[in-house]
Amino acid sequence: MKLRTKIIFLTTAIAVNVVFFTLLSIRGVIINAFRDELEKRGTSIAGNLADRVANHMLLKDYSETKKALNEVLKKENDIEYIFVTNEGGIIAAHTFGKEIPPDILSWNPVNNKSRNIQLLDTEKGYIRDVGVKVSNGTKSELHLGIREDNLRQTVMQVRKITVPIIMLVTLSGVIASFIFSRLLTKPLNKFIEFTKVLGRGEFGKRVDVPYGDEIGYLARNFNRLSMELKNVNEKMEETYTYTHLLQAEKLSTIGQISAGLAHELKNPLTTLKMLFQAFKEQPDMTREDAKIINREIEKIDAIITKFLGFAKQKDFEIADININALTEKALSLAAFDICRHDIVVHKDMLENLPEVKGDRALLEHVFLNLILNAVQAMPGGGDIWMSGKTDDKFIEVVIRDKGAGIPSDIRSKVFDPFFTTKEDGTGLGLSIVYNIVKSHGGKVFFNSSEGAGTVFTVRLPRGD
Ligand SMILES: Nc1ncnc2c1ncn2[C@@H]1O[C@H](COP(=O)(O)OP(=O)(O)OP(=O)(O)O)[C@@H](O)[C@H]1O
Ligand SMILES: [Mg+2]
Repeated sequence: MKLRTKIIFLTTAIAVNVVFFTLLSIRGVIINAFRDELEKRGTSIAGNLADRVANHMLLKDYSETKKALNEVLKKENDIEYIFVTNEGGIIAAHTFGKEIPPDILSWNPVNNKSRNIQLLDTEKGYIRDVGVKVSNGTKSELHLGIREDNLRQTVMQVRKITVPIIMLVTLSGVIASFIFSRLLTKPLNKFIEFTKVLGRGEFGKRVDVPYGDEIGYLARNFNRLSMELKNVNEKMEETYTYTHLLQAEKLSTIGQISAGLAHELKNPLTTLKMLFQAFKEQPDMTREDAKIINREIEKIDAIITKFLGFAKQKDFEIADININALTEKALSLAAFDICRHDIVVHKDMLENLPEVKGDRALLEHVFLNLILNAVQAMPGGGDIWMSGKTDDKFIEVVIRDKGAGIPSDIRSKVFDPFFTTKEDGTGLGLSIVYNIVKSHGGKVFFNSSEGAGTVFTVRLPRGD
């Protein structure tokens, strides 16, 4: 059974029951009050009449007695009969006409009491027989029978209004419970639909229940839950795609690098091969030969170390990165080179830079590479300025050096893998920087003027 049907059924049943029992008790009260009143009236009429006929009875003047009885009978229209018995217990005067009901004397004998009342179930309906002593100390009794016609009429009237009242209450109960159930089940149905929507994974939607009561409170909580689910879901998706993006970038970088790697390794290996070839024919090695071998092996080592360092990077871990702390870490990693080359670093980072979403180790790598390039651009010492600021979408870190600058003819090549102008460089630094920044949704670019220095700028999307 649906909730709505249950509510209608229950409310109507309660309403009908309440009305039914109320009317029943009202009816009982009315009947009792009416009977009380009837008895009082009967007793009073019988008492008065008994006083009136007492003398006649004493004188055995039964015709006068009968006259008195008839007078009262005429006056009171709900009195069915009146009769008086004499000392011998025989009916001496009555209003029955010809036929006196048999056994009437046994119906309600007063005996030793001063009065007696009895409800008689007769052919003419219920009659209340009120019997009183005509005068104290005698056996003579006066009885009058009062019909309960009026009472029956009243009861009938009560019954008449009871039926339409019950019908009216039933009808209004049904209507009220219908409205009530609608008020309750309508938002409930909305909630049911809403849970289906959430079940389908459509988070962030709202259930529209504009009530200020508990149902409204429930709706607000539901909406909050939906928003929270949406946020969590978005974060999960973001992390997932981000990780995949980084992985894809990394693979493509490795792909790009591998080709160059083979090429780059070929040069020192050819040199080594030639030297060893020469040793085979003339086995005495000069100091100069040993130096060359060492240099070429170091070159191979540097290239492979850097390549493996990048390729071996563990799983990406996307976190909220505080760029101030991160650049500080990169500077501390480069501290040895900075000191060795007599370089002074000036920092001007905005204190409350918003966080960036990304992989800590990779981003650290970006700033370390840029700092090392700046340091290597000023072998005789100098200044590095590092500043950080933000706009409403990106945070921007600028690393400026006062080195020799990048000559205009090689500016388009510095991001290429293995492009280097340095004796011991691998040329992988900037290409890795470029790929990491790009995979974080950012950009890296530079400005350089020969002789005046270079400014590298890294822009990363804000994580908030
Ligand atoms: N701050 C800079 N000032 C002047 N030239 C720079 C600067 N940064 C990069 N370059 C130029 O760009 C080239 C490529 O840089 P990249 O970092 O990719 O390789 P590298 O520094 O030569 O080698 P590695 O980074 O492996 O040590 C450098 O050899 C250098 O010529
Ligand atoms: Mg470099």
